[in-house]
Parts: sequence; C-alpha cells; structure tokens
Amino acid sequence: MIIRNVVYKQRRKQLAKILGDGVVIIRNSSDQVRSNDTTFPFRSNSYFHYFSGFPESNAVMVINCKPFSAWIFSKTKDKTKEIWDGFIYGPKEAARKFLFDQGLDLKHFDDSISDLLAKNSKVYLLQEDLNLRDLVSKKLNHLSNNKRADVFLKNEIISLNTFADPMRSIKSADELKVIRHAANISSKAHQFVMANIHADSFEYQIEARLKYFFGVHNARNEAYSSIVASGKNACILHYINNQSKLNESELILIDAGCEYEGYASDITRTFPIGGKFSKPQRDLYSIVLEAQKAAIAQVKKNNSFNDPHFAAVKVLAQGLKDLKILQGSVNSIIEKEEYKKFYMHRTSHWMGLDVHDVGDYFDHRGKPVKLKNGQILTIEPGLYFSDDRSVPKAFRNIGIRIEDDVLVNNSHPEVLTSSCPKEIDELESIIGKG
Ligand code: GLY
Ligand code: MN
Ligand code: MN
Repeated sequence: MIIRNVVYKQRRKQLAKILGDGVVIIRNSSDQVRSNDTTFPFRSNSYFHYFSGFPESNAVMVINCKPFSAWIFSKTKDKTKEIWDGFIYGPKEAARKFLFDQGLDLKHFDDSISDLLAKNSKVYLLQEDLNLRDLVSKKLNHLSNNKRADVFLKNEIISLNTFADPMRSIKSADELKVIRHAANISSKAHQFVMANIHADSFEYQIEARLKYFFGVHNARNEAYSSIVASGKNACILHYINNQSKLNESELILIDAGCEYEGYASDITRTFPIGGKFSKPQRDLYSIVLEAQKAAIAQVKKNNSFNDPHFAAVKVLAQGLKDLKILQGSVNSIIEKEEYKKFYMHRTSHWMGLDVHDVGDYFDHRGKPVKLKNGQILTIEPGLYFSDDRSVPKAFRNIGIRIEDDVLVNNSHPEVLTSSCPKEIDELESIIGKG
C-alpha cells in the first residue's frame, strides 16, 4: 500500500517542470517538545512528505528545476545517537533510498544556500516557513553586501504553495487507495465504538477505544484529536476535552478519523447513547441527515465549492422552520442568515495529507472554485442548540453533526466513508450490541 519512492521522485520532476526554472527549498518539521527533554512522536511536514517520502525531522530538500536535480540534506549517521533515538539514514543512504541525486550533511545546509542563491534568481519556499524565509533573506543581504549584487539583487522569493497546492489537491490512484483504506479503518472504528458503548463510560474511554482500533489496524495515529462529545458538549465545535461521563438519555457526537500512511480520514457520527432516539433527537437528526444527503448530491465536477453548502443550508432552514424554531420564509431565513445561530460553520473542507487539506476555496476574484475530479471534500452539516431560552426545551443542549468524506467523480459523488452507518434504523440496530 505504501507509495513508492519513485512516485515521490516523479512529483519532484513534475513540480520542476511546472516551475520551469529556479530552486525549491523545503524543510521538514522539527521534533516537538512535549515536556522537558521528551518529544511527541514525529510527524513530517505534509509538503516535505509529498515530495520526498523521507521520514527524518529537520531534513531539507532542494530541487533545482533546470537542469533538474534534487538533493537531500539529512542528519549525520551517528552510532551513539542511534542507540538512544533509533535509526538514522545518513545523507548517502537517504539519497540512495529516496532517489535524490545527492545526499548532503545537514550541517552544510547553511553554507550551500549561498551557492544555490547565486545560481538561481527565483527561490520557491513554503509561505509558512518563516524561519527559512528569514535565513534566505539574510543570505541574500549578506551576498549583496559582498558586492555580488549583479546576481543577487534580482533574487525573488516566491510562494511554493501556489504551485504545490494544485498538485496535492488532485489525488492520484495511489493516493486514493491509501485514503480509501484510511476511510475504511475509521468507518469500522466508529462501528466498533457504537457497538460497545455503555452509559457508565467516560468520553476519554471512547477515545481510547478509537485509538486502540486505529492502532491494531496499522493506523497508529489519529488524523486529528478525536472529538468525543456527549450531551451538551456536542455544541462545542472543537471539543477535545473528552472528560464527561456519558448519560443514557443523551446523544453522543464522535468526530474521529485515523491517519494512514500520512493521509487523513474524517468521520462524524451522532447517535443515542442508550440505543434509541427520542422524538426530539430523531426530529433534529433527520433534518441533518437530509441536509447531508442533499449536500453530497451536489458533489459533482464543475459544480461550485459552495453548491453542497447551500444545498445543506436550504434543508436545514426548512427544518428549522418546520420545527418552529425559526419563523418566516425559508428564503428570508437564508438571506438574513438566521440559520447561522444553529449552523455556524461551513459544510466542507478539502481532505488529503492534512485533514484540512491545502487548496483554494475561492479564486482571485473571490468566486468559489469549481470542483474537479480527484478532489476530496468532507460533507459535514450540523445543528447545535446550546442552552438557549429561544429554543424549545426539548431541543436544548443537543448538537448533531454527520460527516463523510466524498471524492469528486464526474456526476457520481463517491462517499469514501459510506460503510459507516448513519440511517436511524441502522444505528439503532448496532448501538450497544457489541
Ligand atoms: N475533525 C475536524 C473537522 O471535521 O473539520
Ligand atoms: Mn471535517
Ligand atoms: Mn471531522
């Protein structure tokens, strides 16, 4: 299932071809301190991973566009360090295995930059790597002070994201295989916790079950911190505290997905802890489910990115009117944005190596982009009723969201997470039956 190293090399070549000339410099993330001298498990920067597959922290990749060549700067092979922290490729082996033309010691990166800048007037860097931008700017200043201004004054630092994001946003067949696998594991993990839920658990115990399920299915990491939100906690959109005890009469909203081979999956399901929806819970759930289906039906090539969102909003506005939570016509509820009190987020984001993946949502004129085959977006409408006196009592403290991952495929949206149940009768037949 692993994406082969030759694929990473092809991506580097493709990027060089798109850029034409200049040099690309991408630096991997550093280890992140958890406490004192201990660190979190390392995760590569998604761009660095996309163009190299090389898994060591702090490494730097350089792509010379014309003539094409690519170098990797990596840590020195150090037998003593390896005893403490594990295997280090070392520059030579890094280059050989990951198909770079040269492997260089990370210690020499700073010095090498000057030469690179001297030969290239265009330097492509990730927008978010401000430290690298500073370093490159300082080198440029230093070099121009050294009277070699003929070359250096012409240097341009250009955002790499503009060119790399369109590549990342269209998923290849290889990537789709991996993402489908991630989606299947997550789908099964949700079913596993549905079947085994009981009201004397705490939310963090559900979170533990999700992590266990991901891990035993070879997806060690979550794509993001799992949201396990019972009762009123579900009205907190990014709830990750996960400390409350479950209550049989309440719903639980679980927003969780594993990362597999670096790629995300992202599923939300909401269901009754006790196994049966009450009438108000069912009424609200049915509206969100209908909104979600209407939005999924709009995931079509050449539709606008906003089409799924507005399809969802229309159903939600109608539902809020039918339940007499909002008054007036559906059009005026939408025009005055009154629905936003109960549906305050958007319906979709891109998904890929990052759960909130790269890619524009609007073009340079501010118009929503058109959907393209091979893009993956989430469809995740919801309704959230906090403890608000304007809302009938039966609906207070209920939060519902239903989220699937959908591949754009001409007029046939492919729901990658479709094996995860969301119909009311399906859910009621699974919950607590483990
Ligand atoms: N779990 C993050 C999101 O749904 O956007
Ligand atoms: Mn999402
Ligand atoms: Mn989610």
